[in-house]
Amino acid sequence: MRIRPEKKYDANAIRKVHYYAFNDHPYTLKEDYKLIDLLREKNALVASLVAEEPPLGIIGHLTISPIRINKEKTNWFYLGPIGVLPEEQRKGVGKQLVKEAIRTMAALGAEGLVSRGDPKFFTQVGFRNDSRLIFSKIQPEHSVLLPLSSNVPEGIITLDPVFSREL
Ligand SMILES: CC(C)(COP(=O)(O)OP(=O)(O)OC[C@H]1O[C@@H](n2cnc3c(N)ncnc32)[C@H](O)[C@@H]1OP(=O)(O)O)[C@@H](O)C(=O)NCCC(=O)NCCS
Repeated sequence: MRIRPEKKYDANAIRKVHYYAFNDHPYTLKEDYKLIDLLREKNALVASLVAEEPPLGIIGHLTISPIRINKEKTNWFYLGPIGVLPEEQRKGVGKQLVKEAIRTMAALGAEGLVSRGDPKFFTQVGFRNDSRLIFSKIQPEHSVLLPLSSNVPEGIITLDPVFSREL
């Protein structure tokens, strides 16, 4: 399996991955995959990594976009959505995608990453709960972060406005 940045022709396969990955998800809208297209359109996709497994093609994808903390621009970023095709889950694909995202964002000088989701997965890839940085509408136990510098700011996270759009 190879993890690489998305290419133009991957857009459809990326939509498919998220459509199926989130199909039975309890908290997420089925059409959330459209967020990735919206982020791409407004140049807010800081990183977009695919997991490619021949001959299957793209089996996983991960998105990184900027965040604000207490409404201020920051050098912290949001990791998500991340999705792996249901039949390819629990084989280490998600873990490898996140590891590559951490490498990519550290190389870009990011100070840290935040995410929201199942802590059972995110704690396996170095994230932790930390009450200093919170999402206003997410249960604190589903809010996770990974510092890439020595400083963890305090405050409320705001994602790119596309995340609050009715899809
Ligand atoms: C979350 C997700 C991206 C993880 O990808 P994955 O390729 O299945 O994860 P990995 O195989 O790399 O798992 C790494 C470890 O995380 C933990 N983990 C992953 N999925 C888990 C689950 N559903 N329940 C419990 N632990 C889980 C396990 O400890 C796992 O290691 P193990 O299989 O050796 O026990 C994938 O399950 C997915 O697409 N889920 C639906 C979409 C979603 O919820 N995305 C996250 C919110 S944006």
